Formats: sequence, C-alpha cells, structure tokens
Amino acid sequence: MAVRKVIRMGHPILRQPARPLEADEIGSPWLPALVADMVETLHDYGGIGLAAPQIAEPVRVAIIEIPGGQSRYGEIPEMPLTVFINPAIEVVDPATHGYWEGCLSVPGLRGFVERPQHVRIRYTTLDGRRETIELQGFLATVFQHELDHLDGTLYVDRITDTKLLAFEEEFMRYLAPQGEAAVID
Ligand code: NI
Repeated sequence: MAVRKVIRMGHPILRQPARPLEADEIGSPWLPALVADMVETLHDYGGIGLAAPQIAEPVRVAIIEIPGGQSRYGEIPEMPLTVFINPAIEVVDPATHGYWEGCLSVPGLRGFVERPQHVRIRYTTLDGRRETIELQGFLATVFQHELDHLDGTLYVDRITDTKLLAFEEEFMRYLAPQGEAAVID
C-alpha cells in the first residue's frame, strides 16, 4: 500500500471519462491493491471520498468513507468504507438541495452546488457482487461528486452562481455560519 499523489485541476486525466472495469479485471489482484492505495491516500489527505482518476488511474472506481458525527462544518451522517466499481445512478427524486463542496483535486476552494437528494446506485463490489443502494441528502451529494470524477466533471462545473465560489479561509470567515456541511474529497 502507498499514499499516492492526488492530481489537481488542470491535469488532463481529471477531464477524461474513466473506463469501466471488465468482469475479469474485478477478480484480479491489482484491483484490491488500487483500492488499498485509494484508502490510504484518502486517510492521508483527510477527505471523505476519492475517485481513482484523482490518483491518475482512469478507471471507474470510487470510495466513500465518512466517520460521521460533528465536523467543523456541522453534523454529517456516517458512511462506512464503501467501494463503488462501475457505478450507475438513477435519480429517485429530482428535488435538489445545495451544499458547499470542496475537492482534494481543487485544493483551497469551496463552492455551493445543488444536486438531487435521493438517488439509487447500482454498482459492483470489490468481490464482484452486484449491489443496489439508495442514498439521500448529504450522502447523495457526496456520491454524485465522486461519480462526476469518473465522467471528467469537477464540482466547479456545477456551480450555477459563481459568486458562491470562495477560498477556504474566506468561506470559513464569511460564509460557513450560514452554510451547510461541506464535502471534502
Ligand atoms: Ni473531488
């Protein structure tokens, strides 16, 4: 296992659609090794989610792990470490809600993004099982942020009011008290 470098906005891999994994790749040893690196990198950088393209591996793999509880941005729900391989999304309810998002590939900034808050996700697990889960609220937002990475999209592309894009320091000083929980990945 190794902590990998998180590539930043401007690196072309962050702007390319990642490729799906083939069935025979899902049983191969390099995949658990990649996921182990992703987990170690996520912990080292202190995020709550990471997509493989962020460590320059353009494949459709993303992880989310949220300890939950009180953060410096308010109360956030818990999510145990979950590995999403080839995830597909279906919006259950298109009603949106906005959160202040951040991204390890766009360090130092926060931006307000509105996304659907009830989604169904079909994905393959690390051991090759097909799973379906529904996510709501903050977790639905976090997942969509990660899925966007697999499609070459960054959260800054989703900001509809660019006045709601701020440096972290100014965000904490002027905007956070009236804002929502932030997404940091
Ligand atoms: Ni991100």
